[in-house]
Amino acid sequence: MRERNAMTSRHVENRDKFWLEEAGRLHWFKEPMVASDVSWDAEDFHIRWYEDGVLNASYQCLDRHLETRGEKTAILWEGDDPSVSEAITYREAHEEVCRMANVLKARGVGKGDRVILYMPMTPEAAYAMLACARIGAVHSVVFGGFSPEALASRIEDCGAVAVITADEARRGGKTVPLKENVDRAIERAGKAGDAVHLVLTVRVTGAKVGFEDGRDLWWHTSRDDVTKECPSEPMAAEDPLFILYTSGSTGKPKGVVHTTGGYMVYASYTHEKIFEVAEDDVYWCTADVGWITGHSYIVYGPLANGVTTLMFEGVPTYPDASRMWEVVDKHKVAQIYTAPTAIRALMREGDGPVKKTSRASLKLLGTVGEPINPEAWRWYHEVVGEGRCPIVDTWWQTETGGVLITPLPSDPMTKPGAATKPMPGIMPALVDNDGNPLDGAAEGNLILTESWPGQARGVWGDQERFIQTYFSTYPGRYFTGDGARRDEGGDYWITGRVDDVLNVSGHRMGTAEIESALVAHPSVAEAAVVGYPHDIKGQGVHCYVILNQGTEPTDALAKTLRGHVREEIGPVATPDRVQLAPGLPKTRSGKIMRRILRKIAEGHPDQLGDTSTLAEPQVVDALIDGAKQFE
Ligand code: PRX
Repeated sequence: MRERNAMTSRHVENRDKFWLEEAGRLHWFKEPMVASDVSWDAEDFHIRWYEDGVLNASYQCLDRHLETRGEKTAILWEGDDPSVSEAITYREAHEEVCRMANVLKARGVGKGDRVILYMPMTPEAAYAMLACARIGAVHSVVFGGFSPEALASRIEDCGAVAVITADEARRGGKTVPLKENVDRAIERAGKAGDAVHLVLTVRVTGAKVGFEDGRDLWWHTSRDDVTKECPSEPMAAEDPLFILYTSGSTGKPKGVVHTTGGYMVYASYTHEKIFEVAEDDVYWCTADVGWITGHSYIVYGPLANGVTTLMFEGVPTYPDASRMWEVVDKHKVAQIYTAPTAIRALMREGDGPVKKTSRASLKLLGTVGEPINPEAWRWYHEVVGEGRCPIVDTWWQTETGGVLITPLPSDPMTKPGAATKPMPGIMPALVDNDGNPLDGAAEGNLILTESWPGQARGVWGDQERFIQTYFSTYPGRYFTGDGARRDEGGDYWITGRVDDVLNVSGHRMGTAEIESALVAHPSVAEAAVVGYPHDIKGQGVHCYVILNQGTEPTDALAKTLRGHVREEIGPVATPDRVQLAPGLPKTRSGKIMRRILRKIAEGHPDQLGDTSTLAEPQVVDALIDGAKQFE
C-alpha cells in the first residue's frame, strides 16, 4: 500500500514528470523530453507519448540485457508433451531474432510493412514478434484458434506482405494445421493474398505441408543462410509496433494499433509493479501470444525487464488436471498469471491434483480476462497458494495495452473479486448513461478521464471508427464498454461488458460477428446471439436462429450451424447453443429486444419486464418453450 500511495502522490504532484521518469526505465536511442500531447476531442483528436524519443522494442527486450544477463534464461519453454522443455538464454534469443529479422529483410520486408503471425506457442512466436520489431515491421498476431476465413480478412485488412507460421501447432495432444490454414487464407484473400510474398514456416511437428516455390521458406533452413547480426532499426516513439484484432459490439473485428514508446514504457512499468519478479524468479503467464495478454505479459513486459518468462505450448488440463502445478514445481515458478476460466475448470477437478504437488516456489498469483467469482478466488488463494500468495486480479483490455486497475502485491488482500484500485497514473471514473459523473460508492459505466502511455492509438485504416467507438459515447473521455461498481473504500468491482460483446473463457467475441456468420449460411434468415452465465467459461454463446421459409428445423441442422460458425470464425467461437426459433422479439419499429433474449437464455423467463411494445408478443412464449431443451 505504501508504494502505491507514494507513486500516486508522485503522479498527482507532477504528471509529466512522473511519466517521464517512468520512461527512464527503457533504453532510448534518443531520450524523450516531452511526456505527452493528447486531445480526445473529436475535432482535434491525437494521442502522442514521448513523441521526440527514439528506441527499438527488440533492442529493449534483448540487446540491452546482453552484457549483464546474456547467459540468463530469457524464455523457458515447456512443450505440450510434459517431457519436453528448453531454456533459451538472452544471448541465444538475440541470435535467433537477428537471424529471423535477416530472413525477413532478405525478402524485402522492412519498416512499416505488415506481417501476420499465426503461430503455435513455441519460442519462435516470440522470435517472430521481436524480429518484426527489430526491423520496424508491424506484426499482427492472429490466434491459432481462428479459421482461414478470419485469417484472410485480417491479411486483407492490414495489407500484409508476409506471414510467419508453423507446419502445425500442438495443443493438448491434438494438432492444428496452421500452414494449411494459411494457404487457404491466402487463396481466399484474393488480391490481398497475392500481395503476401513470403510465408515463413517453422517446422514443429514435421507434418507434410504444401510449399509454394518463390513464396514459401522454411525457418530451419533459411536461418542458416543469413548472419546472426542485425542492427535494430531506430523507431520514433509513435511508430506502430503492432496491430491486434479484437471484437467490438458492431461490425468486423478492429485492428487496434499500439505504438512503440508508450506501449513499451507501460508494459515494463506495470509488469514490474504488479508481479514483483526478482532476478532469479521464473515468471509464468499462461495466455496465448495471440491475445494482448501474451503480447504485454509473456513477451514485451517481462523481456523488457530482463525476466525469465515461461512459455507453455499446451493446455492446463493435459495430460491431466495436475499439469499446471507440475509445471510450477518442475520450473520453480514464482508468479503465475492465468484466467478465471482455467481456475474454475481446475477447481472442478477437486483439490487432489493440486495438493499432490508442492508449489513451494509460488509467491504471487494473478488473474486476467474476466471477472473472477469469489469462490474461484478463494480456491486459488487458499488451495493453490496455501493462503500465502497475494492475488492480483488485473483489469484491462486490448485497447489499454497494459493493466489499468489491480491490487498491488503489498495491498491488503481482503476483497475477493475486486480489481480494487487504479495503477498509479491511471484515472478511472464512473458515469451514468447520460455521462453524469458518479461520486463515492456507485455503480455505472467505467471510463478513463486521462490518457496513459499504453493506450491504443487507433484502429488500423479507420481512425474515424476509433474515435467513434471509444470517445463519442462520453465525448472527450475514453469509454471502456465495461460496467463497474465502486465501494465505500473506493475499490472497483468490474461487473462485465455493458455492450454486445461476449467474454467466453476470457476470449472476447462480438455478437454481431457470430450473427453475420450464421446469416451467411443458406438456410438462415436471421439470427440473434446473446451470452448466458456458464459455470466454467464465464459466458456461453446462445444463438437464436430463424430459418428461411420452408426449411425444416432439425437437430441435424442446428448441429450443422454450430459447425458453420466454427468454420467461419474458428473453434474459439463455437456456439454452445443453437435454438431454432419461429421469430425474434421485435418492437413495432423492427428493433430486436435483446433484453428479452438475454433473460430467456439466462433461464429467467419470469423477469422479462415490459413486453407491451412487442409487435408479436406470442413469439416470446415460443422462445421460452424452445429454450427448455437447454435446461
Ligand atoms: O470486460 C473486460 C474483461 O475483458 C475485456 C477485455 O478483453 P480483451 O480486450 O480481450 O483483453 C483481455 C485481457 C486484458 C474487458 O473489457 N476483463 C479483463 N480483465 C478483467 C475483465 N473483467 C473483469 N475483471 C478482470 N480482471
